[in-house]
Amino acid sequence: MLYRFLTLVFIFIQFSCDSNNVKRGVVSENAMVVTAREEASKIGIEILKKGGNAFDAMVATELALAVAYPFAGNIGGGGFMVYRKNSGEIGALDYREKAPMGATKDMYLDEDGNVIKGLSTVGGLAVGVPGTVAGVFEVYEKFGTLPIEEIFEPVIKLALKGVVVTKKQEIRLKKYNSQINNDKTFWNGSDYIQYEKSSLWKQVWKEKDTIKYNSLAKTLNRIMLNGKKEFYEGETASKLVNFLQNNGGIITMEDLKSYEPKWREPIIFEYDNLKIISMSPPSSGGICLEQIMKMINPFDLQQYGHNSVDYIKVLVEAERRAYADRSFYLGDPDFNEIPYTEITSDEYLLDRMKNFSFSTPTLSKDLNPGDINISESNETTHYSILDQFGNSVSATTTLNGAYGSKLYSDELGFFLNNEMDDFSSKPGVPNMYGLIGSKVNRIEPEKRMLSSMTPTIIEKNNELYMVLGTPGGAAIITSVLQTILNVHEFEMGMQEAVNAPRFHHQWLPDVVLFETTGFDKNVTDKVAKDGYKTYFDSSRITSKVEGILILNDGKIEGGADKRGDDKAVGF
Ligand code: DON
Repeated sequence: MLYRFLTLVFIFIQFSCDSNNVKRGVVSENAMVVTAREEASKIGIEILKKGGNAFDAMVATELALAVAYPFAGNIGGGGFMVYRKNSGEIGALDYREKAPMGATKDMYLDEDGNVIKGLSTVGGLAVGVPGTVAGVFEVYEKFGTLPIEEIFEPVIKLALKGVVVTKKQEIRLKKYNSQINNDKTFWNGSDYIQYEKSSLWKQVWKEKDTIKYNSLAKTLNRIMLNGKKEFYEGETASKLVNFLQNNGGIITMEDLKSYEPKWREPIIFEYDNLKIISMSPPSSGGICLEQIMKMINPFDLQQYGHNSVDYIKVLVEAERRAYADRSFYLGDPDFNEIPYTEITSDEYLLDRMKNFSFSTPTLSKDLNPGDINISESNETTHYSILDQFGNSVSATTTLNGAYGSKLYSDELGFFLNNEMDDFSSKPGVPNMYGLIGSKVNRIEPEKRMLSSMTPTIIEKNNELYMVLGTPGGAAIITSVLQTILNVHEFEMGMQEAVNAPRFHHQWLPDVVLFETTGFDKNVTDKVAKDGYKTYFDSSRITSKVEGILILNDGKIEGGADKRGDDKAVGF
């Protein structure tokens, strides 16, 4: 009898916590780490269980992703991190790659001024000066608490023990392996660049195989012993420079030595009762998210319904306008004046949506970046961490394309980014994500290329509420947006919000891109009938959102995107 009574009480408590019966992902009491691979999430949690904080866990998780998820996790790339401490203090770190000192604005153009296909995406010239190692040491020096050996040790152990290949990884490897182990040569105007032939990536790995990363373990060990200097000035630096220069790259020891990550003021804005904290330039993420959310705020999204015709139209039109501004106004703030106040003012954004109509789309060809009054001025990964002390970290890190430039150093054990493609090689010519840019994002020595990465933390009533972000190139911003709205407007749980089908518009090309499954055909037909070009291709929305949500009862829900091998681990 007593047992039955207690069971009923338990069910009642469960129900009142989740009154609308939300389907939840992993729920825990103290802490949560959500990443693209279980191995990395577990290492993050292991650090927290040892008594480390979210920043210690960030260092370990970032490095663990370089081992467990070499598709995007990296020490040869860069990223952005937004944090919120339990005291409410917030901040952001930019560890984005930089153009080498020898870079020039026309470096990817032929004699006739046309973009040479592939030069900014594959091989040595595509590589920006990596920022990841400097980034993790910056975080560790400011906020770390555990001895550095305790943070590196599980990562090095994982590299030596090896990582089991998943089905999804097998498919990716099949797709990219011939490019990585390249026997091909690449025409560089006057020279042939011979790609590195790597033994590790030469064989075709299959599901359930174990890949051991011995060279990477050695590199990580040296970095653990000698610190950041090892990567930027030491043995690793000289090996890296040699490797790059043998593969057509122009990065020098001086480039590496002068790399510095930068603390930035995050972008902060309000949406209803939420305070959104996101990444500032050189990422466009926070500003575009602010523009879109302020443009859609006057509309009653709940009343339209999730993924309904009107909901899609309002979001698409706001996205179109924000991405048009992105292409024109945004770039590295150390090189350009970013008209942040102007392009995020309520007045400006109301005016931007003035010609919006539910009956006719605004065609992108008729829409220019907004007028303001100023004198002048594909692969990534995200992880979210909340520690047992209440500190949170939201970080997105990338090589840019899948396996970056496809250059893998056998000796050092890691891939190099192709982040240079995020610059605008030529005004008006789209990059690999179809994004175009203006001179604000043109190539200049030591400049950071514009990004879409949107690591985000949200407060509700001054308390931590959500931690999220995603890869996905241009679709990063719109995926973060939809996930926030799924939770806030449509009362989904974190896991449900992360899994829900997504759509995307980025001004140019003028199409609404839908994931192939999950949308009501009547809805997408109506959107098309009303004059929107629709396109269905899940492979072009490559976002994989990793989110953490604080529930009403104080418990923590992790949402790991079902689209990948992603995993939330809590305790
Ligand atoms: O910084 C950026 O916006 C891009 N390099 C991100 C690339 C990316 O997300 C690829 N992932 N699917």
